[in-house]
Amino acid sequence: MTNINVAEEKNLKKPVTKVRFSPLKQQFSEVDSIFDELKELVKSGDYTLGKPVEEFELLFAEAVGAKYAIGVGSGTDSLKIPLKALGIGPGDEVLTAANTFYASVGAIAEVGATPSFIDCDDTFCLDVQQLEEKITKKTKAIMPIHLTGDVADMPKIMEIANCHKIPVIEDGCQSLLGERDGKQVSSWGVATGFSMHPLKIINVWGDAGIIVTNDDEMNRQARLLRNHGLKNRDEMQIFGYNSRLDSVQAIVGKWMVRQAASIVSVRAQKAKNYDDGFSNIPEIQIPPRQPNTKNVFLLYMVFAQNRDGLLDYCLKKGIEAKIHYPIPLYQQPALAHLEYKKGDFPVTDRHANECISFPVDQHISDIEQDYVIETVRSFYRDNNYD
Ligand SMILES: Cc1ncc(COP(=O)(O)O)c(C=O)c1O
Repeated sequence: MTNINVAEEKNLKKPVTKVRFSPLKQQFSEVDSIFDELKELVKSGDYTLGKPVEEFELLFAEAVGAKYAIGVGSGTDSLKIPLKALGIGPGDEVLTAANTFYASVGAIAEVGATPSFIDCDDTFCLDVQQLEEKITKKTKAIMPIHLTGDVADMPKIMEIANCHKIPVIEDGCQSLLGERDGKQVSSWGVATGFSMHPLKIINVWGDAGIIVTNDDEMNRQARLLRNHGLKNRDEMQIFGYNSRLDSVQAIVGKWMVRQAASIVSVRAQKAKNYDDGFSNIPEIQIPPRQPNTKNVFLLYMVFAQNRDGLLDYCLKKGIEAKIHYPIPLYQQPALAHLEYKKGDFPVTDRHANECISFPVDQHISDIEQDYVIETVRSFYRDNNYD
């Protein structure tokens, strides 16, 4: 996995002028074994919820150390279905982080419930100090988001949730194999959702998601809900969705999940290279690195002075840096009916203004990382920015 192929080796000898954000091309450059399995699938006609899906689910459950894994159509569905399984719907509130990708809140909205936001802290996860005061009679679930690959303060969140008897659904879409106090993301909540969208730690050739749970009833409900509520071919027990994990994607998922541990360990090494490189650029502030946490660095995000200037400069120099996320969720037009005001979540606002993400993945080379670091250094030096 960490070995570079001949083409990459050749590239390393050329001066770097471009650093792409996504490693998909490199990741899927040698996939004959996937095509062989796809040919067998096509011949078998086993297209929905068959052998590849079952095999992938077993491998995934093993990778995260959980009892059950249930493949679904997307990461969004991997959150929506557990909410639905808990009977959450109109009139209910789900507490979640104010800075997340839109889909976490989309899942809450899709079951008819109302998202209620909590500001984050500089780990990009919800600020646990503010959790208890936000609980109301209407709070029917808490959905912490393990954003950027870091891990929310789950011991504290579970303590508060248990005390109020509120179920927790973890959004693990950005933090597959993340850990806190030696326990994996997905080992705390009644269910956890993971995405295998092309920009995630393990990704497939389109959309896919997976629900992880140790709870027998959640497993039963989730399996019903992903497949029209069907108990068997002819009996429909409840109303559900068509959110079956596609067999084609399950084959790609099997190939990827076997590499997951190695991918996250290389990502951590790459993140450390950036941390070391940026540590002597005073205009860049590295977020706190928590010693009890295994951050899997889906994103490598730092705080930057003159962030917008730096972003423009990086893009001009061929570095695909990005902002996660430029418009905080609570200020999105789709949420206007919740009547949040600008400034309600000051840490989230600060992150929207100051954070920048640099490419980090198992295929980025040390030379590319040096180019990123030196480009950032030259931006501040040449602009005499203070
Ligand atoms: C934090 C978070 N939650 C949920 C999702 C939804 O996943 P998907 O795009 O697979 O529906 C994503 C990613 O897209 C995400 O980053």
